Amino acid sequence: MENPSSALPQKRTVRLNINGKEEQLELAPWTSLLDALREHLHLTGTKKGCDHGQCGACTVLVDGKRINSCLTLAVMQEDKEITTIEGLAKDGELHPVQQAFIDHDAFQCGYCTPGQICSVIGLVNEGKAKTLDDIRDLMSGNICRCGAYTNIVKVVQEALERSSAA
Ligand code: FES
Ligand code: FES
Repeated sequence: MENPSSALPQKRTVRLNINGKEEQLELAPWTSLLDALREHLHLTGTKKGCDHGQCGACTVLVDGKRINSCLTLAVMQEDKEITTIEGLAKDGELHPVQQAFIDHDAFQCGYCTPGQICSVIGLVNEGKAKTLDDIRDLMSGNICRCGAYTNIVKVVQEALERSSAA
């Protein structure tokens, strides 16, 4: 009888550019970007919530755009620039959006916060949010069980003001 494991695809080398650093991993082709980050690179700032694209806890930036890392395979992200929460602070200084989360007291337990922060940066890059309702709509993919939404909206407003002043 055929060994069922022999039917499984082999691992392959996947090269990922994470936070400006080239990483080479041996991954099964079905490994999600989220699992590659957390389980293989031990970048555990990116959180696993639903693992089904419904909560936004796993949001990272790929070429400046926000994506749910649980919904994409690591092999699909070769040759892209991936930024996780660990890559946002520069030279010991927090990213302005990280600082704004502190200034506006926008996190409580903090579990969803890395995904929210990446999502805010992605939202600013998209340039679509003009009104409060736009902000609420465009952040609606990021669920916060602690309900820190009001203060997160203040963060987004500050980030938008900062980008329009730049
Ligand atoms: S863990 Fe990816 S969206 Fe919930
Ligand atoms: S801060 Fe607790 S889940 Fe959002």
